[in-house]
Amino acid sequence: MAESYWPVFGSKSSESGIPRIGYLDWYVPRLEENRPHNLSLNGMQYEWDIKDLMKESIFEIANHHIGTLKDPRINVSTRENVDVERVVLCHGATQGLHIAVCAALANNNQNNVTIAVESPCYAPIVQSPQLFNHEVIKVRRLQPKENFGHWRIDKQQWLEAIKKSAILMITPILNPSGWDYHDDDREWIVRTCKENDVIIIADEVYLDSKRRHSEYLPFYELGDHCISINSLTKVYSLGTLRYGWIIASPDIAEQARRAFRTLGGMMGSPTLRIAESVFPELETALDKVQEYREKNLPLLRKVLEKFNISWNEPSHGLFGAFRLPHGINAMDFIDRECKQYGVLLVPGNMFEKGLDEWIRVAWSIEPLSFEKAVINLEKALFLAISQKTSQ
Ligand SMILES: Cc1ncc(COP(=O)(O)O)c(C=O)c1O
Repeated sequence: MAESYWPVFGSKSSESGIPRIGYLDWYVPRLEENRPHNLSLNGMQYEWDIKDLMKESIFEIANHHIGTLKDPRINVSTRENVDVERVVLCHGATQGLHIAVCAALANNNQNNVTIAVESPCYAPIVQSPQLFNHEVIKVRRLQPKENFGHWRIDKQQWLEAIKKSAILMITPILNPSGWDYHDDDREWIVRTCKENDVIIIADEVYLDSKRRHSEYLPFYELGDHCISINSLTKVYSLGTLRYGWIIASPDIAEQARRAFRTLGGMMGSPTLRIAESVFPELETALDKVQEYREKNLPLLRKVLEKFNISWNEPSHGLFGAFRLPHGINAMDFIDRECKQYGVLLVPGNMFEKGLDEWIRVAWSIEPLSFEKAVINLEKALFLAISQKTSQ
C-alpha cells in the first residue's frame, strides 16, 4: 500500500523505480466494496445497448477489421471537423499521454527534458513523463479566494516553469474541481508557450461536456504547438472500450502515429467495430449529460446548502469539489460515515497533496440512484458534523 496517494512530481529514482499510481491503491479496494451509493464516478454512467446498435454485426467483433471497416479516424475527423491526417487513434486517453509526450519530443535533441504539469491532476499525467526519465515540475491552478468562480493560474510561477520546460501538460477541465480555464488564462498559456517554444499537451477527456455550448474550445484549435487528447471514456461512458484519440498539427500527428505503432501496435477489432456503431449515436450521451445535470444538481445543491457548505459549481462537466466543514478529513469521512451509509466519494488529496479536506462529488449516475445517494450523503454529513461539533 502506498504511503501517499497524490500524484508524484520530480523524476524516477533508481532506488524506488517507477512511482506508484497511489490513488488506485486507495480507490480500487473501495470500488470492490460495491457501496450502493457511488458518487465517485467521474465518467457518465449511461448503459449503451450495444447489441441493439450492432445487430448481427456483433458476431463479427473478433474478425479482422482491415479491409472491412472504413478508415476509423474518419469518425473523429468528421465530428471535430479536422483533416483526417491530424487524427491519431490510441487505446484511451491515458495511452494518449505517453504517445503525445513521445511525439512532442520526437525532434528534440536532448535525451531528457523538463516538463511542467498542472496540479491538481490525474496521476498518470504527471507520472507518464517519468517513465521516459524526464523531470516533471509543478504548476498549480489555485482555488479562488472566497471559493467562488474560476480556479486561476499564477502567471509569474507558470512563466518561470514554462521557461525551463519543453512541454506543458494540462487538464483544462480540472480534476477534481470541474472548472475550465478562465479565458484570460487560456489565452496567456497558449501565447506564452508559443513564445517559449513549448508544446502544450491538453488532456481534454471531460471537454465534450461543453460541446453544445459556445465556449467549447479544444486546444488543437489554438495553434500548431497544441495537442489535444480525448477518448470515449468519460463523457461517452465507454471506458471499457479503450478508445482514445489525439489531434495535433500534421507534423506532430505523424510522429504520434509512429509512436502509437511502437507502443500500441494496432487498435483492436472489437474496439473499432463497437466504436463504429456508437459514433453516430454519441449525441444520446450528451442528452444524458444534460438530463443528469438538470435533475441531479438541484438535489446536491440543496443538501450542501443545508450544511452551509460553500459550493463552487462548475458550469459544465460531470463533477465538482467542495471543502468539508469544521476541518473534517476527507479520507476519514469516506471510510467512516460515508461507508456506514454506503456512499463512495473521492478525497481531494488523490489529485494534489494538501487537498485533505476536499471531496470530489460526481452527478454522473442516473437520477433515481442519485437521489438515493444524496439522501445518504446527507446522513453521512450530518453524522460527521455532529461528531465534530460535539467534541
Ligand atoms: C484527466 C483524466 N484523463 C484521462 C483519464 C482516463 O481516460 P482513459 O480511460 O481514456 O484512459 C482520466 C480518468 O479518471 C482522467 O481523470
